[in-house]
Amino acid sequence: MVRNFLDKIYKSDLALSAPQLYRTWASSYDDELTENKYVTPQRCAEMLKRYFPSTECRVLDLGCGTGLSGEALYKFGFRQIDGLDLSLEMLELAKEKSIYSRLIHDNLNTLSKLDQKYNAIIAAGVISPGHANPETIRVALSFLTCSGVLVFSLNDHALRNASFDEKVKFVLSDSMVEILDEEYGDHIIDINLKAKILAVRKRCDTAFTV
Ligand SMILES: C[S@@+](CC[C@H](N)C(=O)[O-])C[C@H]1O[C@@H](n2cnc3c(N)ncnc32)[C@H](O)[C@@H]1O
Repeated sequence: MVRNFLDKIYKSDLALSAPQLYRTWASSYDDELTENKYVTPQRCAEMLKRYFPSTECRVLDLGCGTGLSGEALYKFGFRQIDGLDLSLEMLELAKEKSIYSRLIHDNLNTLSKLDQKYNAIIAAGVISPGHANPETIRVALSFLTCSGVLVFSLNDHALRNASFDEKVKFVLSDSMVEILDEEYGDHIIDINLKAKILAVRKRCDTAFTV
């Protein structure tokens, strides 16, 4: 059982920034995650399909990594998929999968604008301590068309981090969104880590108040 990184990633002694971590992990990431049954990409894609059954929509895969989340979207029928990630090494592997129409190299913690809007966005395994911060939800909403849908995961580490979880709740309560779905379930089965998947719809009507 290969757990070179999974054994370390959630421990505080792994003093690597996200770019350093994923530069080192990129080449073995798919094998390690697949072997340990990482199911969040499938869960996110399946939830997105509930709101776009025809799959006719432009999807942005935030923190796409090597493309496991893009592959899950493709498996569920989505064909117009762009990806964004801060790790060039992960993006190079995503490119080899020929799933993405466009790959964007950027950091969600500093990015504020994109040159196009999307009907749907997923962020699988990305909004988490040491990764993309809770403000990513607000940034992602700004990249959505009106009534667009954002699906994202929060793993147990994010949910148990009180200040991180509070910030997520604050951003959601402070944004024009309708919560469509919320499901807690498996994240990486073989290390017994779980995650909540949420789907939220962007509201643009001025009459909407929460
Ligand atoms: C656990 S991986 C998930 C990758 C892919 N979504 C999947 O499900 O396999 C987290 C990814 O988020 C990216 N990431 C972390 N922090 C980020 C940030 N601030 N901006 C953009 N990407 C980030 C990492 O480079 C990495 O590829």
